[in-house]
Parts: sequence; structure tokens; C-alpha cells
Amino acid sequence: MFNEKIQKGLIRQLNRELESSHIYLYMASCIEKKGYEGICEFLYDHSNEERIHMLKLIRYINKRGGNVFLDNNISIINITYISLKDLFLKLFEHEQKISKEINSLVEVSLQEKDYFTYNFLQWYVEEQIEEEALIKMILDKIELIGGDKGGLYLFDKDMKNIHKNKKL
Ligand code: FEO
Repeated sequence: MFNEKIQKGLIRQLNRELESSHIYLYMASCIEKKGYEGICEFLYDHSNEERIHMLKLIRYINKRGGNVFLDNNISIINITYISLKDLFLKLFEHEQKISKEINSLVEVSLQEKDYFTYNFLQWYVEEQIEEEALIKMILDKIELIGGDKGGLYLFDKDMKNIHKNKKL
């Protein structure tokens, strides 16, 4: 029998991944209208990645004999941002929140002595380290560019490849 507490935590997490996918999707759509081709591509791709994170959780829960629930009450995403820096700052804060949630899930898996889940979650721990580092690197670049329009143009071009070089 799959531990009830673990199952609840994993279901909550898969719905957070779904929400993350929506957040990236919303941001990609906003950015697309501003003409940043590379950044928009990066955000659309990342939205797909978040969906993969959700799928991994669904398949694990099913494999363990649990039952999956999808939250149909995702609140309307209407994130306002005043600049690219502000947008990525909000994404950084979001990823930090997800990291905390993954960490508490890891803690619960140890408390409940569910070493299968503990092992499964290590992929998410690694992923969060990479995601936080990636967004931080983007923020550093934005800081470096400042108001330089030529720099921003090149940065947007680079963003097309950032995602492709990230191993899944
Ligand atoms: Fe699935 Fe961006 O964490």
C-alpha cells in the first residue's frame, strides 16, 4: 500500500509542476508580443519541461499503485512585470519556492522511511539545482547588459541555444 502522506505530497507537487508549466507558458506568450524571439522560445520550451516534470510524477504515483488527481482550479495567471529583469526575478523566486517544496518532500520520504520515493526525488533535487543556477545565470547576464540595446539583441539570440544545451 502506497503511503498516504507521501502520495498526498506527490500529488500536490505534480499540480505545482502543472502550475509552473502554465506560468512559463503565460510569460512566453507575453514576451512573444514584445519581439524577443530567443527568450520567448526558451520560455515556451521550459513550459514543456515543466509538463514533463509533472508527467514523471504521475507515472511514478501510478507505478506505486496510487491515484492521481489533477487540480482543475488553477488560478488565472496574470503576472505583471516591469522589465525582463523583473520577469526573471519572479521566475527565480518561483523556482526557489519549488526547491523548498521538493526539499520538504524529501524530508517526508525519510521520515516515512519510503526509500523508493527518496530515491525517485533525487532527480528533482538535481533538477532544481540546475534550474536555479540557470535562471540566476540569465539574471546575471541581464544585469551585465543593462540598457545596452545591442547587447540585449545578442542576448536574445543566445537564449535560443541556452535551453538546447541543457541536459534533461
Ligand atoms: Fe519543475 Fe522549474 O521546476
